[in-house]
Parts: sequence; structure tokens; C-alpha cells
Amino acid sequence: MSTPRNAPYRHIEVTRIAGAMGAEIGGVDLSQNPGDEVLAEIRAALLENLVIFFRDQTLTPDDQLAFARRWGGIHLHPFMEGMPSHPEILEIVKTPADKKNFGGSWHSDQMFSPQPAMGTMLYAKQVPSAGGDTLFANLYLAYETLSDGMRRLVDGLRAVSIGDHFKGHDGKSRKDYYADKLAMKVRDPGNVQTTSVHPLVRTHPETGRKALFIGGHVHRFEDMTEAESQKLIDFLMDHATRPEFTCRFRWRTGSLAFWDNRCTQHFAINDYPAETRIMQRITICGDTPY
Ligand code: SIN
Repeated sequence: MSTPRNAPYRHIEVTRIAGAMGAEIGGVDLSQNPGDEVLAEIRAALLENLVIFFRDQTLTPDDQLAFARRWGGIHLHPFMEGMPSHPEILEIVKTPADKKNFGGSWHSDQMFSPQPAMGTMLYAKQVPSAGGDTLFANLYLAYETLSDGMRRLVDGLRAVSIGDHFKGHDGKSRKDYYADKLAMKVRDPGNVQTTSVHPLVRTHPETGRKALFIGGHVHRFEDMTEAESQKLIDFLMDHATRPEFTCRFRWRTGSLAFWDNRCTQHFAINDYPAETRIMQRITICGDTPY
């Protein structure tokens, strides 16, 4: 298997937005659930560019869900309440009253689950006049640009990821971190597994390429202490998010981003204190990393 580089597209237009990753897709109205041939091209564009963006879409929650279901089952967030009318959709809201934002540190979605999310679809309902962009980082490049010696080291490691103690959350639990600082509702995950161990280098099941599967949920490496692991985690996170491995997306109302969590991290920038940002997020179920 290999990534379909420069795949020929007959039904969609694909315009790259950065050297490392990311492309805008034109010629598609997602409210008319795409036919199989168009969907196959969208999949090729996703695998080639890792994150794809659709502009000027007018989608109801049911439209967004119908498109998301074409990619697999819907993953319910164990910690956050979905929309009352559509529990599969997580409304990401930040208002001027909120100090924190959701997703405001580098991470790959649901890395703490035994089967982390394959992909995430984020649809912009309301965006600030400036700011609120999202950054993405290419984890294939992160792996491929390590030295031979470092690759030999990381090839043998397994990472322990924890859902409720995000590294970027000052060591606080998710509930304490967001308490009084974010309108979104945190819920008790019940008996859903929220700590998991995955290979630090995973093979993408569709492209066959290896990616450095690191993110903000990683606490330590298996058979190592936190203190032993931390310096290496810091190095790998810094390396994986080097500017030349990233792209940055400027949202407009009606934009939809779809990213592949198996080979990317992302970071929602919190730089719009006096404005409101409302997004609708659907996460697609993934498989066990290997
Ligand atoms: C997320 O981490 O899923 C949120 C990303 C964003 O709001 O830009």
C-alpha cells in the first residue's frame, strides 16, 4: 500500500494549502451526500493530504452525520456531552465568558481509547472576526525526519495515553481544568476505557506509511517511569510540531475540516477573548493501532 501521491481527480478540485499537508477541496456540496466515485476521490485526497477542507457548506446536523457515517461508525466522546438533539455531535463552544478553549494543545483525538478515532469532522457554525484558527501537524514527516538511531529507539516503544489528565492541562483533571472556564459540559465516562497503550510508531492501515503516534495524551512509555519518559516526550512533541511539518487553517462560517487522526495532531488556537466560536464535531471510529 502507498499514499496515492498526485492522484488524478475527475470529480473534485484539490488545492494544497501548505508544503507539509492540507488541501482545500472544491466542487463538492456535502449537503448532497456524495456518490461513491466522488467519495473515493475525497478519500484519496484525505490520504494524500492528511487534512482536507471544504468551504461554504450549508449543513444541518443530519447532513453532517450522513456524510460522517459514510466513513465508519460514530465515536461518542467519553468525557463531553453531545448535542441534546444529536448526541453523536459534540458542539464546541467558546464565548467571551470562557477563558479556556476545547482542544487548545497538540493532540490526536481519543488516543487514550483502545481504538483511537480514525478521523474528525469539524464544521464551523460561527467564527471570530479574526483568530480561532486550527493548526495541524504531519506525523509521517515527524517519523521520517528522525535520525536512524532515534528511529531504532522509538520503533521499540509503546506509549501510555491517559484521557483524563491531559498534559496541557497543568496536571488537572479534565473536569477541574474546564470548571467555570468553558461553557461545554464535561461528563463522567462511566466504565469506558480511558487509558490505553499503543505503539509509538504506528503503521497507517490504508497507506502503509509509518507515523510517530505522539500527542498530548501520552504520559509515559511502557516499562519506563514518567521522569524517564518526560524528556523524550518533550523532544518528540517539539520535533513533531516543527513549523515545516504543519499547516494552519483559517475558518469561515460554513467551512468543514476533516482530518486523519492516524497520522496527524491538531491544536485549536485560543486567541479571540472577546468573541464567540461555535463548531460541530463528529468523530469517526478507528481501529487498533499496530
Ligand atoms: C478539537 O480538538 O477537536 C477542536 C479543534 C478546533 O476547535 O479547532
